[in-house]
Amino acid sequence: MPADPSLIQELAENLACRARLGLGLVEARAGDLRRLGAALAGRTAPDQPVPAGAAGAGPGLRPSLEGVRAQLGDCQRCALAQGRRKLVFGAGLATAKIMFIGEAPGEKEDEQGEPFVGPAGHLLTRMLAAIGLTREEVYITNLVKCRPPHNRDPRPEEAAACLPFLEGQIAALRPQAILALGRPAAQALLDSDAPISALRGRWHDLGGTPLLPTFHPAFLLRSPERKAEAYADLKALRRRLA
Ligand code: URA
Repeated sequence: MPADPSLIQELAENLACRARLGLGLVEARAGDLRRLGAALAGRTAPDQPVPAGAAGAGPGLRPSLEGVRAQLGDCQRCALAQGRRKLVFGAGLATAKIMFIGEAPGEKEDEQGEPFVGPAGHLLTRMLAAIGLTREEVYITNLVKCRPPHNRDPRPEEAAACLPFLEGQIAALRPQAILALGRPAAQALLDSDAPISALRGRWHDLGGTPLLPTFHPAFLLRSPERKAEAYADLKALRRRLA
């Protein structure tokens, strides 16, 4: 069914208005993000967070990571495309059991086209090592695939444009567990406006996939006193997989 252009327009204006008012993702329900994202990606909005029909697949089919990447193409679906050097799709094992989802590429990621290769990425690598994992054994991506200017939080319409592709990546991987790193990824995926401190530390259900929010490594670099909580989350992940 083709998306209704007036609905797309209304959603886009609504989300842009929230962003102008500084309300950010917190005030934009993920349902809105999904409907707008689906419309921008040229398909009907899914009802479920991890749909079989996510970007990169036909209805009812499991997408492949390559299919999702091909659909994303030289993405111009939001304004972030204009400022990016490289689109950062994701990296790691295509059959990974664990998926890490951050917020958005930073400067180094934008330069190299790889997620989490800057200072926050170095800490993420150490966090993985603390529970006996390497980057090559997991899959790492972000809520949005292009760097926001000055590393600001992604805007609702930017997250909305990317969400169908993130859902496509999740549907392709079918991971046993997802770690959402930081507030924007956790809130967008869980359709929640709760702070990360309230979301983290317990398992949530994302359309049948267990999802554990935890602190973003960049936040931990600024607030090292919160590292113990993040390590507790990582240990919970380890226990879940064991
Ligand atoms: N922060 C993120 O959220 N993602 C990256 O890829 C790098 C820094």
